[in-house]
Amino acid sequence: VVNIAERVGLALLHKLDPERAHSLSLAALRLHLPNLPGVVTTPRLATTIAGLALPNPVGLAAGYDKNAVALAPLMQSGFGFLEVGAATPRPQEGNPRPRLYRLTEDRAAINRFGFNNEGATSICARLAMRPKTKVPVGINLGANKDSADRAADFAAVLACCGPHVDFATVNVSSPNTEKLRDLQGRAALTSLLAGVMDVQRSMPRPIPIFLKIAPDLTDDDLAQIAEVATLSGIAGIIATNTTLSRDGLESPHKGQAGGLSGAPLFEKSTRVLAKLSQLTDGKLPLIGVGGIATADQAFQKIRAGASAVQLYTAMVYHGLSVVEKVAKGLDDLLAEAGFALVADAVGTDRARWL
Ligand SMILES: Cc1cc2nc3c(=O)[nH]c(=O)nc-3n(C[C@H](O)[C@H](O)[C@H](O)COP(=O)(O)O)c2cc1C
Repeated sequence: VVNIAERVGLALLHKLDPERAHSLSLAALRLHLPNLPGVVTTPRLATTIAGLALPNPVGLAAGYDKNAVALAPLMQSGFGFLEVGAATPRPQEGNPRPRLYRLTEDRAAINRFGFNNEGATSICARLAMRPKTKVPVGINLGANKDSADRAADFAAVLACCGPHVDFATVNVSSPNTEKLRDLQGRAALTSLLAGVMDVQRSMPRPIPIFLKIAPDLTDDDLAQIAEVATLSGIAGIIATNTTLSRDGLESPHKGQAGGLSGAPLFEKSTRVLAKLSQLTDGKLPLIGVGGIATADQAFQKIRAGASAVQLYTAMVYHGLSVVEKVAKGLDDLLAEAGFALVADAVGTDRARWL
């Protein structure tokens, strides 16, 4: 019965403009329309990453709940952790609509939102009011498009929201803010992370800081990033954001500008993840994201080197129930493969991706 309701709901949402469908899905969650499974956890799935205790390693990727409006229901949706945002210091409209496309034939999406959000102050107020559960919540830090000092923006959002979250992510990998990804270069990244870590160290309760990177980086770029990340004292890396690549797509919307997410991103983002795991010798915690829609794909990311994973686009095609399926299915796969703990599986099949 639950699945029929979800199928009908998805079919209706897919008749609408994608951005409207996205807003409606958030509204439905807030009204508690979907049947929610609650927090999914087993002794095998429970894990710790960068000091964060996760009931399971399957998280919500940034960009779905940009303004932190649906935290309470999302905490009951099966996720082991949530990332909200991106938040910028000042509210921002983002790019003109339309700016989100479903690539149904490819089980993918292209978005060029450009950090539309209500601004750090509003988002921070919602984060402060959220129910306290065992599901950690983090904030994706962004920069205003018209900012004179983008590096300072990341630090400012952390200063504002940091006291109300469990982790934060420096997002220098969105393709939709011009020149943002240039901050992934050695000199810019070093000084950006230094500024963010200054704020982090001054917090009464310092939280882990992650860096989120693009999938469209060369091995040389990745080597530099691994080095800068390690020296900076950040907690880990999230790999990856959306791609500019359009290889192998079938959908009529494949020519749209923006970042591509979903199924076609899986291989590319997993290779970047495995490469980073190799470059950091498995010592820097990694979160794997990009194209996960099944438990087997989550398991592959973990064996490629991820301590935890995130997903977003799979919900567009498989509904919210995909979260519980991936988490519970992962538990089964770990058991079948003889792993007592998810942490024991991390990086065990990295070589296959290199
Ligand atoms: C509509 C949309 C908005 C996104 N917004 C953000 C964002 O604000 N910050 C960010 O770091 N990533 C953002 N992402 C990227 C996702 O967090 C994720 O890295 C990417 O979609 C790959 O995962 P997936 O294939 O499971 O969707 C967004 C993705 C989509 C589809």
